Amino acid sequence: MIIAVDGPTASGKGTIAKGLALHFGLPHLDTGLLYRAVGRQVQLNGGDPDQSVDALAATGFAESLLADPELRSEETGGLASRVSIHPAVREALYERQRRFAMQPGGAVLDGRDIGTVIAPEAEVKLFVTASVEARARRRYLEMRDLGRAVTQAEIEDDLRRRDRRDTTRATAPLTAAADARVIDTSSLDRHEAFASALAAVEEALDRSPPA
Ligand code: DC
Repeated sequence: MIIAVDGPTASGKGTIAKGLALHFGLPHLDTGLLYRAVGRQVQLNGGDPDQSVDALAATGFAESLLADPELRSEETGGLASRVSIHPAVREALYERQRRFAMQPGGAVLDGRDIGTVIAPEAEVKLFVTASVEARARRRYLEMRDLGRAVTQAEIEDDLRRRDRRDTTRATAPLTAAADARVIDTSSLDRHEAFASALAAVEEALDRSPPA
């Protein structure tokens, strides 16, 4: 079974995807981390994330980079959003994600275009979203716990900018697949969000024709 979990930054999709993977005993891939690694590698190379050639060269990042804590920073998230608009970067990362999705037994993947591009045949598609205010609040609390000096207003501005870039890019823009179930986590805590996602998965499985 393939479960595709798409949605904007800080919507809760990562927590939901990890929880579902654990619940169903499936491997999980956070595809945003791949784009973050490309963004970080461009920076390490001294390249320009807005230049397709520089961004493409960075897709050859070393596996060890995926464990770099800097990948979780807001700055790297912004770089990831910039490199992700280049079709050549998306193509270079496609095969790895597709292979992960198609492994025997299935998988859970979270990102922006899992249900639309990477695994359109996924049995279950969730689109996890939340208001920009709720997402900024969550991200602010996370950053504060990490000791990062940033205000909630700065985060909110940054999220709006990234949402605009992610939803308006020409290739694989962030959008809910026509057959995705939308989960709005604005007023849900992480337990409630997971419970709501699990209920949506179970309902989707009940309705899907037997294999
Ligand atoms: O989910 P995240 O915040 O880690 O993602 C960082 C950026 O990577 C996001 O702004 C857009 C890009 N991304 C993408 O284009 N496609 C994906 N499947 C995952 C992430």
